[in-house]
Amino acid sequence: MAEPVTDGENPFAGRLFVVPSAEELARAAAGRIWGIVRERAALLARGGKPALGIHVALSGGETPRRTYEVLSAEPYRARFPWERVHFHQVDERWLPPEDPLSNLRLLRETLLSRAPVPEANVHFVDTGLPDPEEGARRYEESLRAVFPDPPGGFPRFDAVVLGIGKDGHTASLFPGRPETAAGGAWAVATAGGKPPVPRVTLTLPVLSAAAQVVFLVSGGEKARALRGVLSGDPALPASRVTPARGKVTFLADEPAASLVIRKGRAGRR
Ligand code: 6PG
Repeated sequence: MAEPVTDGENPFAGRLFVVPSAEELARAAAGRIWGIVRERAALLARGGKPALGIHVALSGGETPRRTYEVLSAEPYRARFPWERVHFHQVDERWLPPEDPLSNLRLLRETLLSRAPVPEANVHFVDTGLPDPEEGARRYEESLRAVFPDPPGGFPRFDAVVLGIGKDGHTASLFPGRPETAAGGAWAVATAGGKPPVPRVTLTLPVLSAAAQVVFLVSGGEKARALRGVLSGDPALPASRVTPARGKVTFLADEPAASLVIRKGRAGRR
């Protein structure tokens, strides 16, 4: 994975990892996901629980497409413990699963159908239900079956992969929307994006309960949002993913990080 920028030009060293291009971002991100899963598997093995599931929640959107393709190809394909990794959706647009904008479609095309993922390990938002409210309710119910009675009241995903929108949204938590403050719910119905569509999303407390949160940020159009999020602007939902017992990492390409680090010195490998 990319090296942190330690030469004093990255004020977010240790949290922000920068690579030159979108392709290198995808490779760094796949490596990071693999690393988290491998460490978790080793920890469970040492704890005498080698068969326990490992839970990863994945975002949709465009940025992670290549990451998922890299993860489902060699060398990861042969090494990844597919049988025991459970994949969940961070959020979904309320569209049929065959729609080009469906996040499930993206996950299936780039990862779930390419790697030997057992169907029972795929946990998705069912957009065939009557409405997003019902979709959120049923998605939360299915999560509660996987994470019964979690300490702290929220499930602890081993890894959550997030993106950042130009407006600072993350998952389907958009600036100024009431769901961003959803109390005890794990999943809620919402709407947003361009074009705006109804959606179902995990809530902030769920994202913040994760053991590892990995943000993927690519392209110059995200530079302002990334700067705002790293500086903790509370108006941006992505800033509010703050795991108390977990770790947040930002993986960015140089264009996305252009407003927070000096150009040309960014975390070369
Ligand atoms: C979605 C996502 C969303 C995404 C950001 C960034 O359904 O849109 O899960 O939260 O991560 O919008 O999207 P891009 O990667 O497409 O810029």
